[in-house]
Amino acid sequence: GTAAGRTGADSPVVVVANRLPVDQVTDPDGSTRWQRSPGGLVTALEPFVAGRGGAWVGWSGSAGEAPEPFESGGMSLIPVPLSEEEVDRYYEGMSNASLWPLYHDVVEKPEYHRTWWDTYVQVNKRFTERAAEVAAEGAIVWVHDYQLQLVPAMLRQQRPDLTIGFFLHIPFPPFELFTQLPWRSAIVEGLLGADLVGFQRPAAAANFVHLARRLHDLPARGSTIEYDGRTVTARSFPISIDVKAFEELASRPDVVKRAEEIRAELGNPRKIILGVDRLDYTKGIAVRLNAFQELLEDGVVEVPDTVMVQVATPSRERVEHYVHMRETIEQQVGHINGVFGTLGGPAVHYINQSVPREELAALYRAADVMLVTPYRDGMNLVAKEYVAARSDLGGTLVLSEFAGAAAELKQAFLVNPHDIAGVKNQLLRALRIEPAEAARRMRAMRRHLARNDLEHWANSFFDALQAKA
Ligand code: ADP
Ligand code: F6P
Repeated sequence: GTAAGRTGADSPVVVVANRLPVDQVTDPDGSTRWQRSPGGLVTALEPFVAGRGGAWVGWSGSAGEAPEPFESGGMSLIPVPLSEEEVDRYYEGMSNASLWPLYHDVVEKPEYHRTWWDTYVQVNKRFTERAAEVAAEGAIVWVHDYQLQLVPAMLRQQRPDLTIGFFLHIPFPPFELFTQLPWRSAIVEGLLGADLVGFQRPAAAANFVHLARRLHDLPARGSTIEYDGRTVTARSFPISIDVKAFEELASRPDVVKRAEEIRAELGNPRKIILGVDRLDYTKGIAVRLNAFQELLEDGVVEVPDTVMVQVATPSRERVEHYVHMRETIEQQVGHINGVFGTLGGPAVHYINQSVPREELAALYRAADVMLVTPYRDGMNLVAKEYVAARSDLGGTLVLSEFAGAAAELKQAFLVNPHDIAGVKNQLLRALRIEPAEAARRMRAMRRHLARNDLEHWANSFFDALQAKA
């Protein structure tokens, strides 16, 4: 239908994402409260939506009935309910045990189940209906990520008046991998419902155009595809962070003081190596533990002169791949500490918790070497946060070539995470770098980030989308 007659149909800008920017958590005493959701998507989008007084349609993070819509931080938050079974099949199953590994180079083997797919379709319909209810006539709706790839086409069918954008935060695989998917055609058709489909990297956009052309025999030229009498544009928009805000946070006197305290709490080591990730098998956490362990075994690095801190937020804890990976990582940390640690002085400080932004900023400020070694990552905002935090021009970034961020942060020590000798080599170079050389690299990366911040990303996507209205 049209906008007339719907209640609350007044938002000119609507974001649709699997998660709301806040998660509802239940405390042991049964009371509930909201806390910030994990992951890069929320970090990136929250300032954008808040700044435009937009609506955000998403899941509250727990199964069961959805809370009523509410206002928060300048946004209208519209919770979408998911039942236990839907969480199991749509979120843990189809999204995170089929699509996530498939889109990340099949680092783990994806599983495909028809019941998961059916629930994915059903949940995508529900998100579509909520978005259709809150969007004003002619509104711009921006749909996000791999959990909701069917929404663009479903929404266009219900609301042809809308301008619809889609952004994929994770990599988009090449034809040879994507076509494993039993429902490959439906996904491509779902995405083609958008006016603009955004990706992190040009290669991902090219993969999509190529796929649409081959799979659906559609006329495609450059970055556009002719479909259903419309022209769909597929382009890259590398996402970023609120650089200024992060830099300010990391320069706050209390945060700088906390960074010094962290050094002291770690026993004032000469070098601190840091890793910060969701505990995910794509992040290559084992790779860095291996490299550190071998350097200790080789005797070129010693504890307590050099220590490692790994902060790993619990993530998708009921998905089999994640359960298994966590066991492996924790065993490895235990082994390294058993062999190289001392009483009260571990080699690897492992924190399996989410930490507050202030603490995170202080950790970045304290770290001499930041190790970011994913096997595959759409962008990796942690790498950008580290650079933004280092207004003191201290610290060195070691970064995987397979993170989207590597295309931009070229002065990092780039590594192939599959090449353990190479990772060891670069880690050692980073540990031994002259401060002047470290500062030169950091300055260059900071210059790039200053121009390519979150606002730049959101505006360039939004402008390109509005141009299609
Ligand atoms: P992904 O989207 O796959 O989780 P990104 O690196 O792009 O990866 O984004 C991760 C976001 O989550 C960053 O903003 C980072 O600061 C935050 N984050 C990661 N680990 C933690 C942690 N242990 N505590 C708090 N925030 C974290
Ligand atoms: O960008 C990747 C992403 O999956 C986001 O869609 C998501 O918000 C974030 O990582 C965290 O994952 P999850 O929502 O599954 O906890």
